[in-house]
Amino acid sequence: MTAVVVAVANQKGGVGKTTVSVNLAVEFWRRNFRTLVIDGDPQGSAVEYAANAPEDKPFPIPVINLAHAGAKLAQEVMRHADNYDLIVIDCPPHKTSPQTLAAIAASDLVIMPLYPSWLDLTATKATLETFEQAKALNPDIRAAVLLNGVRNKTIMSMAIDLAITELNIPRLKTEISLAEELRQVVGDGEAVALRGASKTRQQISALADELLENLNLPIANTEAA
Ligand SMILES: Nc1ncnc2c1ncn2[C@@H]1O[C@H](COP(=O)(O)OP(=O)(O)O)[C@@H](O)[C@H]1O
Ligand SMILES: [Mg+2]
Repeated sequence: MTAVVVAVANQKGGVGKTTVSVNLAVEFWRRNFRTLVIDGDPQGSAVEYAANAPEDKPFPIPVINLAHAGAKLAQEVMRHADNYDLIVIDCPPHKTSPQTLAAIAASDLVIMPLYPSWLDLTATKATLETFEQAKALNPDIRAAVLLNGVRNKTIMSMAIDLAITELNIPRLKTEISLAEELRQVVGDGEAVALRGASKTRQQISALADELLENLNLPIANTEAA
C-alpha cells in the first residue's frame, strides 16, 4: 500500500500547522499506522519539536525536513510512500513558497488550520487559491478547514464562523481549543496522544477519527505496525 498523504497548510504563520501536524501524526502512529512527518518549512519547527524529546524517551516517529527540495518536494515525498501508511506534511507559511504548492499537489487531503481571527480568514482564502492551483495538477485532492485555538463563542467568533461557512469549503467538525498543554508539549518534545487524558488529547483523537473516516482508513487500526 502506498501512503496516504495529508498536508497541513496555511500561508499564515502561527495558526497551528506544526502543532497539529506533529500531534496528529503521533496519534496515527498510536493507532498502528506507520507514520512519517515531513517538515516542509525551511525553519524546521517540526524537526525542532521532535528533537526536544529527551534521550530516554525519544520521539516515537521520524520527522524529516525536506524543505530543501523546494518545488520538487512532491517527488521527495513519493520516495517515502512505500514505507509508510500515512505521511503528514507540515507546510511553510509563505504564500510564494514552492513547497506548499508541491505538498498540496502530492496530497490526498489538505487541512487548513486557522484561529477564529479575521487575518487568519484572509490568509486561508489565499491558501485556497494555492489549493485550486494544485487541483489543476491533481484533481482528486480535497481540502477542509480546521478551527484551532477556539475559546468561548463571542460575537466575533460567530461572525467568523459564518464567514468560514461562506468560503464554501468543507470544515472539520472537530475543533481544537486554545490549550496551554499544546504550547508546553513542544518544549518537552512530547505529543498529547502519549500523555494522560485531557480535553486536548480527546480533541486530537477526535480529529484523527474524523480524518481517518474521511480517508476511508480504519479508525481502530489493528494491523501490526
Ligand atoms: N490550540 C492551541 N492552543 C494554544 N496554543 C497553540 C494552539 N495551537 C498552536 N499553539 C501555539 O501557537 C504557536 C504557533 O503554533 P505553530 O504550530 O507553530 O503554528 P504554525 O506552524 O502555523 O506557524 C505555538 O507557540 C504553539 O505552541
Ligand atoms: Mg510551523
